[in-house]
Amino acid sequence: MHFKKRTHTCGELCESNIGQQVVLNGWVDTRRDLGGVIFIDLRDRYGITQIVFEPSYNTKAHQNGGELRSEFVISIEGRVRKRPEGTENPNIPTGQVDIMVDRVVILNKSLTPPFQIKDNVDVNEDIRLKYRYLDLRRKEMQDNLLLRHRMYQIARKYFDENNFVEIETPVLMKSTPEGARDFLVPSRQHKGRFYALPQSPQQYKQLLMVAGFDRYFQIVKCFRDEDLRADRQPEFTQIDVEMSFADVDDVLEVMEGLMIKLFWELKNVVINSPIPRLKFDEAMEKYGSDKPDLRFGLEMVTLNQVFNETEFKVFKDSLVNDGIITGLLVKGCGDYTRNQLDTLTDFCKKLGAGGLIWMRVKHDILEAPVAKFLSEDEKKNLIKTLKAENGDLIFILTGKRNKTLSIMGSLRLEMGKRLELIKADSGDKLLWVTDFPLLEWDEDEKRFFAMHHPFTSPKTEDIELLSSDPGKVKARAYDLVLNGNEIAGGSIRIHDAALQSKMFKSLGISDEEANLKFGFLMNAFKYGAPPHGGIAFGFDRLAMLFSESNSIREVIAFPKTASGMSLMDEAPSIVDEVQLKELHIKIR
Ligand code: AMO
Repeated sequence: MHFKKRTHTCGELCESNIGQQVVLNGWVDTRRDLGGVIFIDLRDRYGITQIVFEPSYNTKAHQNGGELRSEFVISIEGRVRKRPEGTENPNIPTGQVDIMVDRVVILNKSLTPPFQIKDNVDVNEDIRLKYRYLDLRRKEMQDNLLLRHRMYQIARKYFDENNFVEIETPVLMKSTPEGARDFLVPSRQHKGRFYALPQSPQQYKQLLMVAGFDRYFQIVKCFRDEDLRADRQPEFTQIDVEMSFADVDDVLEVMEGLMIKLFWELKNVVINSPIPRLKFDEAMEKYGSDKPDLRFGLEMVTLNQVFNETEFKVFKDSLVNDGIITGLLVKGCGDYTRNQLDTLTDFCKKLGAGGLIWMRVKHDILEAPVAKFLSEDEKKNLIKTLKAENGDLIFILTGKRNKTLSIMGSLRLEMGKRLELIKADSGDKLLWVTDFPLLEWDEDEKRFFAMHHPFTSPKTEDIELLSSDPGKVKARAYDLVLNGNEIAGGSIRIHDAALQSKMFKSLGISDEEANLKFGFLMNAFKYGAPPHGGIAFGFDRLAMLFSESNSIREVIAFPKTASGMSLMDEAPSIVDEVQLKELHIKIR
């Protein structure tokens, strides 16, 4: 088909182009027929330009213009004019001008799209995903992907300038359990054997350190067969980083540099360095979370000291069993109704709490169902410790340490939401959480699991505890948190085969099993492995937060649904009997 190539994009023309003959290519966005004159907004990814078909200006073009419908792809030629006074559109860069059309060529027609291509379109997400190529025509989505593109460029430039080498690692690898479930790929050539898709390039990047690359990064797809949420996808992207001869401070410093660059270039926001750090234990006690949202205060307070000698059975039992008593002071909410308090009690019970203790401060005394069980000293001490005043409300939870703290952390977030404590000017709050426990006890399986992954180094001073009190060992691990979202996580690694073997023992992994699963890494460590450590950023989460989207699906071109489906191509799909046979697979 013959058509003239564009002289300009649809986001380009302004008053200085008035009088010029131009060619534009694009999609028919909206169309208005006003008393015989047809106005069309012509759209491409650069913007929108109004084009005008007027019978008295060009009868033929006007006639052809009558055939145009939404989403037709067209090429037009015409003259740029100043819009008649009063019809300018100050909201778009091309709003001062429009084009009187001399000639139009339809490059392709379109069926009526299942939804209108406009921002804030009120349409079910499943339909958007099924017709993702149409959804991606919307400005909102184009802006998200363009922002993502800028993030790639800023990150690549930053790492290149800091001597990091970009290296690709395999997508077909050995199945090495890392936390989540693996996606498996059956081998045709090796009957009964499987590749796994990497949950992350963790072992490969460590091998690259053994190989002497010193500083590595990769923007890389990772695959995890886990239950999905708004901030999780089965395949997602990481900025993966590893450094040799590095300690915790070195890794954090390099990553802060990246955050400073991203915030400045994407949002014109200055991030103050160093980014604050909080130890895991303190984060749990103050915020009930290992990813605290610091955009508001409302800090929790541990009350074990206050009730040290209590006769109140609930507290006493808890303290005897090594539990925790945690309190939350909510200013000015002393007038909450029973109904409101019941709702919040249910909120905590749904999360697994036995109940929620509440108290009101009124006329300098505590008013509460449990008040009669507490001594005068305890009440006084509680008010003093929490700095409670008349009109305030106090919540208390007690039970097993981390579970109780985490429920109170959820209540903290809920109260923050109810009281609208996050303000427009609260700003972005970055935080490093450090000193995570190395191991996590699994009550069901009655064994320890690595909280991060089995290659994470314990703190040097805690190595001895590995055999005597493994639950107490802290790791040289860190997470980066942005406004309550975990956006990166990493650690300094074990680089010594003997310590690694000790670690596997703590995890209940036998030498034989370790050898089978991680032998290649363990072997490599026998040939001069430098001390090393690294981190990985959740790239999609970061893009989600920078674009102020509420799901990572909004910043991924072709995402999966919560049940792992791709609605557009209908993956996962049934495959041919022949394909299965080649792979030596039988479906039961
Ligand atoms: P980790 O498992 O903490 O660390 O992952 C790093 C970051 O990746 C993001 N992330 C996800 N994003 C979207 N969908 C998911 N399913 C998903 N899972 C994780 C999070 C997280 O902070 N190899 C280690 C890193 C290291 O030790 O260097 C790792 O993968 O933002």
